[in-house]
Parts: sequence; structure tokens; C-alpha cells
Amino acid sequence: MSARRLDGKARAARLLGEVEQRVRACIERGVRPCLAVVLVGDDPASQVYVRSKEKRAAEIGIEARDHRLPATTTTDELLALVAALNADRAVDGILVQMPLPPQCDAQRILLAVDPAKDVDGFHPDNLGRLMLGQPRFVACTPQGCMLLLADAGIALAGARALVIGRSTIVGKPMAQLLVHADATVTVAHSRTRDLAAEVAQADVVVAAIGRLEFVRGEWIKPGAVVIDVGMNRLADGRLVGDVEFAAAEARASAITPVPGGVGPMTIACLLNNVVLAAERRAG
Ligand code: GUN
Repeated sequence: MSARRLDGKARAARLLGEVEQRVRACIERGVRPCLAVVLVGDDPASQVYVRSKEKRAAEIGIEARDHRLPATTTTDELLALVAALNADRAVDGILVQMPLPPQCDAQRILLAVDPAKDVDGFHPDNLGRLMLGQPRFVACTPQGCMLLLADAGIALAGARALVIGRSTIVGKPMAQLLVHADATVTVAHSRTRDLAAEVAQADVVVAAIGRLEFVRGEWIKPGAVVIDVGMNRLADGRLVGDVEFAAAEARASAITPVPGGVGPMTIACLLNNVVLAAERRAG
């Protein structure tokens, strides 16, 4: 069997088309959707992510306000900026790019973002609502993974789903979304005793570990669906996922490529959250 490739690029383009229509409708009602992006320091990967988020936003009519701060920025300085953005009625969404430099208290900063502008879905209020099954803003990468799973056409109800990775950005919200879709969910992580055995049982595998080709293709249960969140850059510049792609593709029924799978979905879902926030402002 060779797996169907779940084309995140095409799916994201479709979602962005829908978001663009809704942006236009907001503008017609006098509300220009606006995303404030905060980047502290000069981490090259974060600079690339932020640039592509801002570029996509501008392409579909969302105003992107760029706030670049030096690597020496303190927690208090960042809190002051977040407070100003919270108070600015023209700002619909606030994104503080992670990771922050070590002297910045990321928890305090995430907590300071107005939950109604938390388009990343990282605020405890939004994480709590997700847990209750009444989400407001869902973290963008897990939201994108769910859309790709829906496209794969597999019935999640009763399926065994394995999420590898327990980050607040991906693993934990992903597990919650799968639970609410009635899957039987296992969360594996660095202390999991026998990852191969867990993978071998899973109908759906979501790999979000951040380690190059860590999930071996031969572990995949024949016919399983594989969602690869990993984005690991090789010395030659190529991007490679957390799953050994060629071997996994030979066993799975559907798989996301890297690049062109989950990555484009994350940005599209972010802009979807921004337009949601703007629609609430438009009333
Ligand atoms: N760093 C890695 N992924 C993300 C994300 O989705 N949002 C933010 N703010 N920072 C990130």
C-alpha cells in the first residue's frame, strides 16, 4: 500500500480563501481585522515564521502590526507592550512568538494577553475552555491537524489515536481535540517505555516531538493515518519531519508530507482565529 498524501498546502489555500471572504465582509462593516505580532530577539527560525505569518495576513487583507524587540527585553517591558495591545481597540489578535529569551517569563506574558485576543489559544482561559469542550480559540497547529484528519475521511470515533509529544502548543491541545472527537487517546512522550509498541497499535499517529525521523516507518500499523508536525532543518537546508517518511508512507493509508503538510495549516488556522476575533468586534 502507498499512502494518500494529505496536501496541507492545498487545504490551507482553500481555508485562506474562505478567511479572505470573511475579512472582506468585516471590512465592509467598517472593521479591518488586525493582528499584532511580537517578536523578541533575533532567532532565525522565529524570524522566518513571523515573516510568513505577516505576509499571508497581508495577502488576504488582514493588517499585520509588527513589534520587534531586542533580545535584552525584560518581562516588564513586554508586559507593558501586551497591556497596550490589549487596550488598543483596533487590535483583534495578539501573537507573542515563542520561544522567548530566557530572562522573559513566558507564563506571565501568556497570562497577560487578553483571552479574547489570544489567537494562539495559549492562555489558560482558552486552554480550559478547550478542555470543557467549549473552545474559543484553539491552538493553530492542532486545529490544522484536525482539518487534515477530517480530509483523510477517517472516522475518529472509537479509533485509537496516539499523540507523541506533550507540549502546550501542540500535544496537549491535540489530545483534547481527539478526545472530543471520541477517539481513544494515548499521549506518549520522552519517558514512554515502549514507543514502538504504542505506535503499532494506533489507527492515528500525531508526531510532535521535534526530533528528526524519530518515528520509524516499520512501527506504523498498516492502514494507519500519520500526521507529522515535525519541522527539522537539515544542514543542507531541507526540512524533514519527525516520521521516517518513505517507510511510513509504504504502510500508512494517509500521511502528511514535510514540507507541505501541517506547516501551511498552522498559518491558515492562525488567520482563521484572527478573523473570528474581528467578527466578534464587528458584532
Ligand atoms: N512558536 C512555535 N509555534 C508557535 C505558534 O504557533 N505560536 C507562537 N506564538 N509561537 C510559536
